[in-house]
Amino acid sequence: MVNVAILGFGVVGSGVAEVLDTNGRHIEGKVDDLIRLKYILDVRDFPDSPFAGKVVHDFSVIEQDPEVSIVVETIGGAKAALDFTRRALQAGKSVITSNKELVAEHGCELLRLAQEKGVSYLFEASVGGGIPIIRPLNQCLAANEIEEITGILNGTTNYILTRMVRAGLSFDDALREAQANGYAEQDPTADIEGHDACRKICILASLAFGRHIYPRQVPTEGITGVTLADVAYADSCGKKLKLLGRAIRRTDGKVCAYVAPHLVDRENPLSGVEDVFNAIAVRGNAIGDVMFYGRGAGDLPTASAVLSDVIEIVRGGCRNAGIIGWTDEGDAHLADRRDYDIHALVRIKGMDFAAVEKLFKDCEPIWEKDGETAALVYNVNEGELEKILSGLDAAPYIRMFDC
Ligand code: HSE
Repeated sequence: MVNVAILGFGVVGSGVAEVLDTNGRHIEGKVDDLIRLKYILDVRDFPDSPFAGKVVHDFSVIEQDPEVSIVVETIGGAKAALDFTRRALQAGKSVITSNKELVAEHGCELLRLAQEKGVSYLFEASVGGGIPIIRPLNQCLAANEIEEITGILNGTTNYILTRMVRAGLSFDDALREAQANGYAEQDPTADIEGHDACRKICILASLAFGRHIYPRQVPTEGITGVTLADVAYADSCGKKLKLLGRAIRRTDGKVCAYVAPHLVDRENPLSGVEDVFNAIAVRGNAIGDVMFYGRGAGDLPTASAVLSDVIEIVRGGCRNAGIIGWTDEGDAHLADRRDYDIHALVRIKGMDFAAVEKLFKDCEPIWEKDGETAALVYNVNEGELEKILSGLDAAPYIRMFDC
């Protein structure tokens, strides 16, 4: 019998309890053992829940119970969750988490601690909700040098962009819908400002390239600057606006990671990823391009990923899913995105196209209206582009995905 404790009975924690309850027999058949949910830690009581009898309020009950070998941390944030995770690992318990903030900020330290204690720290659910990506990246693609990872990593923003295009909803109404569906973080700032996607690309890049990449090292732009006009432009010229997290290994071995809205051609499979769905495209030097697609948020999809980690541990799978060589080494391994050329959509007020054309060698007009010129500029150094636009009355530029 394997005893499990869940920390935090919110959307994901309650999803884990539900799937364990509903699919318990099926899961036990897969692992040839009994899995018992012994405790649920939360500050609240849940008198109407079928799991009410399992609720405890004091973490030390779980910490000191030798029967509990697996702790599922679904609290979120990096305060209590960090303290409880350290204590659980110290107590010799494996920890499974859906908490991308914690993994992105403290993954290296917690993996090291787990290794010292001979237990596992697993986080399949921290990226892409229900999509299997951590274990495939770390095991199935382990023979590859990873060249690039590009992902639609945030369900809430993808949902908002989809609803703006399809239903003509305002940004605020689309956000309200996403919150009502349980996709958005408690504070939606993390979603709409790109921090959530940033944490996820940090985790993927750290795994793929073997060095911890911290959120503070990754330039991040969300979708709050995206207007209905941008969305309409993208739609009218056969492109989709998508918030992408990217990590690219440059020829000198440095990694360029960032999060920003992009215009994606309709022929690219990422453009067809709609609603709350996420997709992660990986390019390896042996496999070429491979894409992982599925529900990137929500209680049951995320619970599916959490429970895959439980199953991995109960089956006695490779400790820490074979994650090795994830080191913590400053920022010499990081490239500056401003050193590279991009194509982008620019919108500049108070200039006609003839004036814009003088600023950029290679550009094409999109529209001139209401005193604003929109143009596509090609093969421009991103640092130069930033410098030019900073002296003008310009909207934030939007990159095109083909570079
Ligand atoms: N708020 C996140 C999202 C939840 O919208 O993708 C899953 O990490």
